[in-house]
Amino acid sequence: MSSIKLHPLDMLPEPGSRMAKIDAVQEARALGIEVRDGDREARLILVAHGDNIIGYVNRCPHARAPLDWVGGKFFDPSGAYLRCALHGALFRPDDGHCLSGPCAGDALWAFPVKVVGQYVVADKRDTS
Ligand code: FES
Repeated sequence: MSSIKLHPLDMLPEPGSRMAKIDAVQEARALGIEVRDGDREARLILVAHGDNIIGYVNRCPHARAPLDWVGGKFFDPSGAYLRCALHGALFRPDDGHCLSGPCAGDALWAFPVKVVGQYVVADKRDTS
């Protein structure tokens, strides 16, 4: 019997859903959250970069592991790059591009977010 594995982008929060308070994202610089729908779950990262908040799926393009399998930390020791704790891939926080590691040249999956009041909320996805 086979099972269908949904891509995490298929179960992102509905547009307009509150995901986190903006203060919490800015304080953490990268905040991991989980979205559940029945048996399905998606791990996401909200990254504060300058005045922007960027959403990523918390799944490394190399071996599909969550970046923070060690203690909810996403940044490398320099604080400049997101780092996958499993094999050390480094990603630019502003666009998710992988600069070094086994998935160099690939990128994190981004998803649209926006700030409404004090909250980061899911934005509409471009499905075209
Ligand atoms: S799973 Fe992320 S670098 Fe290997």
